[in-house]
Amino acid sequence: MTEGEFPVHRRARCPSRGAPITSTPFDTRHIGPGEAERAKMLAECGYGSLDALVEAAVPTAIRTAGDLALPEPASEEEATAELRALAARNRPMTQMIGLGYSDTVTPGVIRRNVLENPAWYTAYTPYQPEISQGRLEALLNFQTAVSDLTGLAIANASMLDESTAVAEAMTLMRRASKSKSNVVVLDSECLPQTVEVVRTRAAGLGIDVQVRDLLTGLPEEFFGVVVQYPGASGVLRGRGFYHAVSEAAKAAGALYTVAADLLALTLIAAPGEFGADVAVGSTQRFGVPLGYGGPHAGYMAVRAGLERSLPGRLVGVSVDADGNTAYRLALQTREQHIRREKATSNICTAQVLPAVLAAMYAVYHGPEGLKAIATRVHELAAGLANALRAGGVEVAHEAFFDTVVAKVPGRAAEVHAAAREAGINLGHIDADHVRIASDEVTRPDTLAKVLRAFGVDSAWEAAQALPNGLARESGYLTHEVFSSHRSETSMLRYLRRLADQDFALDRGMIPLGSCTMKLNATAEMEPISWREFAGIHPFAPAEDAEGYHELVRQLSGWLAEVTGYDQVSLQPNAGSQGELAGLLAIRAYHQANGQPERDVCLIPSSAHGTNAASAVLAGMRVVVVKCTDEGNVDLEDLQSKVDSHSADLAAIMVTYPSTHGVYEHGIERLAKIVHDGGGQVYVDGANLNALLGLAKPGEFGGDVSHLNLHKTFCIPHGGGGPGVGPVAAREHLAPYLPNHPLLAQAGPDTGVGPISGAPYGSASILPISWAYVRMMGAPGLTEATKVAVLAANYIAARLAPHYPVLYTGQDGLVAHECILDLRGITKETGVTVDDVAKRLIDYGFHAPTMSFPVAGTLMVEPTESEDLAEIDRFCEAMIAIRREIDEVAAGRWTAETSPLRGAPHTASSVIGEWTADYDRELAAYPVGVARKTKYWPPVRRIDGARGDRNLVCSCPPLDAYDA
Ligand SMILES: Cc1ncc(COP(=O)(O)O)c(C=O)c1O
Repeated sequence: MTEGEFPVHRRARCPSRGAPITSTPFDTRHIGPGEAERAKMLAECGYGSLDALVEAAVPTAIRTAGDLALPEPASEEEATAELRALAARNRPMTQMIGLGYSDTVTPGVIRRNVLENPAWYTAYTPYQPEISQGRLEALLNFQTAVSDLTGLAIANASMLDESTAVAEAMTLMRRASKSKSNVVVLDSECLPQTVEVVRTRAAGLGIDVQVRDLLTGLPEEFFGVVVQYPGASGVLRGRGFYHAVSEAAKAAGALYTVAADLLALTLIAAPGEFGADVAVGSTQRFGVPLGYGGPHAGYMAVRAGLERSLPGRLVGVSVDADGNTAYRLALQTREQHIRREKATSNICTAQVLPAVLAAMYAVYHGPEGLKAIATRVHELAAGLANALRAGGVEVAHEAFFDTVVAKVPGRAAEVHAAAREAGINLGHIDADHVRIASDEVTRPDTLAKVLRAFGVDSAWEAAQALPNGLARESGYLTHEVFSSHRSETSMLRYLRRLADQDFALDRGMIPLGSCTMKLNATAEMEPISWREFAGIHPFAPAEDAEGYHELVRQLSGWLAEVTGYDQVSLQPNAGSQGELAGLLAIRAYHQANGQPERDVCLIPSSAHGTNAASAVLAGMRVVVVKCTDEGNVDLEDLQSKVDSHSADLAAIMVTYPSTHGVYEHGIERLAKIVHDGGGQVYVDGANLNALLGLAKPGEFGGDVSHLNLHKTFCIPHGGGGPGVGPVAAREHLAPYLPNHPLLAQAGPDTGVGPISGAPYGSASILPISWAYVRMMGAPGLTEATKVAVLAANYIAARLAPHYPVLYTGQDGLVAHECILDLRGITKETGVTVDDVAKRLIDYGFHAPTMSFPVAGTLMVEPTESEDLAEIDRFCEAMIAIRREIDEVAAGRWTAETSPLRGAPHTASSVIGEWTADYDRELAAYPVGVARKTKYWPPVRRIDGARGDRNLVCSCPPLDAYDA
C-alpha cells in the first residue's frame, strides 16, 4: 500500500478559534466508551491504562511491530466523497447479458424499509426465536414462495447463491441417491459459472462431473443430473424432455435437480410437476439489485422425503408456551447439517436480508403481479426474436422465456459495439452469436435500440414463444399474505409490524460471543444503494466496473496489511466459503509439491463446526485435537497427532484468539509443530476483532485465514447474512486462491476455480468494509481492538462474582469475549442457560451465544461499540437474574415455577388471570426495566421439539393464529 495514492487528511483548524473545521473523527462515533468511561472500566479491571491492560492480555510474542500502514483516517464526508468518486468510475449500462442475473426494480417501500432499515439489517440469525418472529415470518414467506413456485414440498431459508446451491444439490444427490456411481451429469445448458463452481467442489470430493448435451442422452450410471430451466442460452424444451430426464434418473437410481428461474416458473410448469427431486436457483430478480454479482439469495427446495437432507437453515412453525402459533428454526440444535466430521454442508451464514427482500417483492406483487411482470418480460423477448427474424437475423431457439440467442456469423463484435454505443450490454458468446436477455426494466424503446444494433429496422410487437404443453397450470402464492399488501400503505405497515416484533442492534446490545455485533454505521451502509454500485452486472465488460476493481484492489491491500498475508481473494461470500477456499488452496499446494496424500486436517475440539465441515468438503480427513482443562489446544496431544500423521498431515485449523475467548500463548509453538510435521496452518480469522492492529495471523504462524467481514469489518448480519468471507494467504498459497472462468483478473490462472458464482462474490457490500477501514485508519482500528478487549474484561470482572468465567489467559484476562459457566448453577438449581437467555428478553436484551463452544455456558462479546451505560445495564440484568436463581436455590420457587422458566413474558400473558408463583410486576418489569421503553416479545417460550415432530415449513393459514 502506498500512502501517496490517498490524500493525507490533516484536520484543518479554524484560523480564528483553533477548533477543527472538519467533522468529528469517525472512530469516536464507532467506539462506544469515551475517556472517562474507559477509566472507570479499567479501574474495575485493575489496570491504570488501556495499554497496560492490552500488554497484560495479549502475548508479547505475537504482537506486531509498528503501526498498520493504512491511509490516514477520513471523516464520514471525506470517505463518502471518495466512494462517490469510485462509484463514478462504474458504468451502470442497460444490462441484457443474462446468465442468471437480471435487472429488477426494488420497490421503494421495500428498499427503504428493509434494505436501508437497521431494524432489519442489524438483526442477528434467529437462534433466539422469541425475539425474531418478524424475520422468521418474512423467511417463511420466502420458503412458501419458493416451495409454491417450484412445486416441491419444502424450501429452505436461502442459499449463498445459485452456483453454490447447485454444488450443494450435487452433494445432497450424492448422499440421497441409491446409485453407486461417482458421476454427476450437468446439462451443457447449465450456467458457465455454475459448471465451474460445481467442478471446484467436485474436485475436493472426487466426484466426476460430466457436462453434456442431454438431448444426446445420459450415461448408463450416474448419481445425479442437473438441468438448467430455462437453459443458459434461453432455450426451453418440451415437457417431454424434462419428464424423460426424470424417468432416466429414476431408472439409474439417481436424483434430478432443476436449476430454475423463479420468474419463469410463473408461466411454465414447476419442476416438481415433471419429477424433479430438487430445485435450486437464485431469487435475485425478485427485487434484489445486480450489485456486480451479489449478495443475492440462492434457494433450494426438495420433494417430501428429502427434507432432513436439506443444507442451510429451515424455518418451521410450532407453538409457544401459551399455545400460540410461533416460528423457529426447525431441525437444528445449532446447525443440524454442520455436524463436524459428519457434516453434510458447511453453510452457516446464508443470505437472510436478500431473502427477505425477495420474499417481500413476492408479497407486494402477489401472484398476478409476478405473472404480469413475467408475461411482459416474455412478450418483449418473443417480440424481439420475431423482429430479428423479420430483419433477416436467425434466432437459435424457437422456444424460450426471456433470452434470445441471435446468430450473426462474424458480426458479434460489431453488434456488441453498436449496442454499447446505445448504452446496452448484450451477452457475449462467440464471434457468431449474441445473447439478449430481457428483464423487468426492459422497455419497447430498449428493444428498438437493440434491433438497431443488429442493423434491423423491423418494428417490435408483443409475441409468445413458450413451448406448447409447458404452460403452468397449477396455482402458486395462494396464501393470504401474497394478496393482502397490494397498497404501499399496507406494505409499509406490514414491514413495520414485522420489524417491531424483533430485537435488533437498533434496540439494544446483542452480546453474542463469536458474532461481533458492533455498529454498522450509516455512512458505511448508504453507498450500497447507489445505482453505480447496485446496477452493475457481474459479467459486464471490465471497463464498466473500474470503480469496483479499484475498491477491490484497495480493500484487498488493506486486508493483507492488517492480517500480515500477501494476497487476498474477496470472492467467498461467507466465512464457511473462505474456509473451503483456504483448504482447497492447501490441498492444491500439497498436490503441486507431489504430496497428494497429505489429506489430514487437525481440528481442536473447541473449533466452530464449519471448520470440520469445510475440511470434509475439501476432501480431507478430520482428526480432532484435545483441549486442556484451561481451554487451550493441548500441545502434547497435537504433537502426538502430528507424529502419527507425519506422512499425511495436510493442515491444522485453529481459531485465534480461540473460541474459548483467550489469547493462547502456545500459538507460535503450535504453528511450529505443524510446520515441522509438513502441515499448513489455517488460522480461522472470525475473531480478528481481538487482533486488528495488535497482531497479525500471517506473522504468528498462519499460512492462510478467512476473515468474516460481517463481524470485524462491519457488514451487518442482516438476520443471518449476507456475509463476506475473504481468504487471505501467504505467497506460497496465493497461486491456489479462487479464480473465475468469466473474469481472468479475479484470481490467479493457477487458482482452484471459483468458490462463488460471481467473480467478486458479494461485491456490492464491499463498500461497507472499505468505508470502515478508510474512516477508522490504523489508529482507529487499533483503538477499537483495545476497547473491545477492555469491554470483555470489564464484563468478566463485573460478572465473575456471580457467574464463574470459564477460561482466562495470562493474568486472568480474557480476549474480546468471555464464557460464563452456568453448569454448576444448573446442577444445583435446575436453572438452565436457556432460562437465563429467555429471562434476558424480559430485561430487554438479546441473549449471549448459548452453549457454544461449551454446552451449558453463555459466551458474551460486548464489542467496542457499546457504551458503558449499555454494558452496565447488561451486567445489572445478569446480576438481577443471578439473584432470581439464588431464590430458586433458597427454595422460594422451583426452577419450573420461577420467572426464569416462565420467561419470556408477553404483554398478554401478564394481564387477565394470574396463577404464577411470582407476581406480574416481576414478570413484566424486572429490576431496571424502564416502563416507557420496555421491549415486549410477541410470543412466549417456543416448543422446539414439537415443531420438529410436526414439520411445517410454509406459511400456516391465518386461522392458526387464533389458537
Ligand atoms: C469461529 C468461526 N469460524 C467460522 C465461522 C463461519 O462463518 P460464516 O457463518 O460466515 O460461514 C463462524 C461463524 O459464526 C465462526 O464463529
